[in-house]
Amino acid sequence: MSKFIVAPSILTANFLDLKTDLNKLEQANIEWIHYDVMDYNFVPNLSFGPKILSDIVEKYNFKMDLHLMVKIVNLSVEDYLKPFLLKNVEQITIHFEALDDEQIFNFIDFCKKNKIRSSISINPDTEVKDIEKYLNQIDNVLIMSVHPGFGGQSFISNSLKKIELLNFLRDLNKFNYSIQVDGGINEDTFKLVQDAKVDMIVAGSYLVGSNVTNLNERVKKLEG
Ligand code: DX5
Ligand code: ZN
Repeated sequence: MSKFIVAPSILTANFLDLKTDLNKLEQANIEWIHYDVMDYNFVPNLSFGPKILSDIVEKYNFKMDLHLMVKIVNLSVEDYLKPFLLKNVEQITIHFEALDDEQIFNFIDFCKKNKIRSSISINPDTEVKDIEKYLNQIDNVLIMSVHPGFGGQSFISNSLKKIELLNFLRDLNKFNYSIQVDGGINEDTFKLVQDAKVDMIVAGSYLVGSNVTNLNERVKKLEG
């Protein structure tokens, strides 16, 4: 990933009028969409699955960044992920806290086999050292700067030192992962994460929803 990317999350869209929001994002030259999948198990909320994703990729050309806030039970990782293997799905993130070690390695293998970028996310209460053993194998690390489950929460600043540590470890070990941050990003907090050096920013309520009337201006602000 070479340039700095802003990926809007469509979690805060009005689903009855999703097309309007997607058209607005397309007109604002947004390249990536962040797609938050929630299961009412790992997180206390339920969002959407492969069907809506399939409808979106059929009509739009966005690169899709899937964020799976889910536990995987009674199914293999591969069987769980297969329905999400759709056109333009470029990156899939799973949560370190949601899967066991074997599932995480199966996930990494699945991504390699299917030429999708593999990404691991950690919650605000999880430390970078907990995922250190995966860092040489993955393409992205997603630092949660809110507790996963809902859009519109306030940015948690302990994410900044994790971003700095990931930069340090990447330089030290010549790792290849990109660094992404998700949660509470707006025109104030984006400066903090840019200073800490991230490659991709996810923004939900700041960019998507009927109250956002100046999208292009906001995208420009975040792109810095
Ligand atoms: C939270 C989701 C985020 C969320 C971001 O669980 O993973 O992607 O949609 O929304 P904001 O930017 O409003 O915090
Ligand atoms: Zn997300």
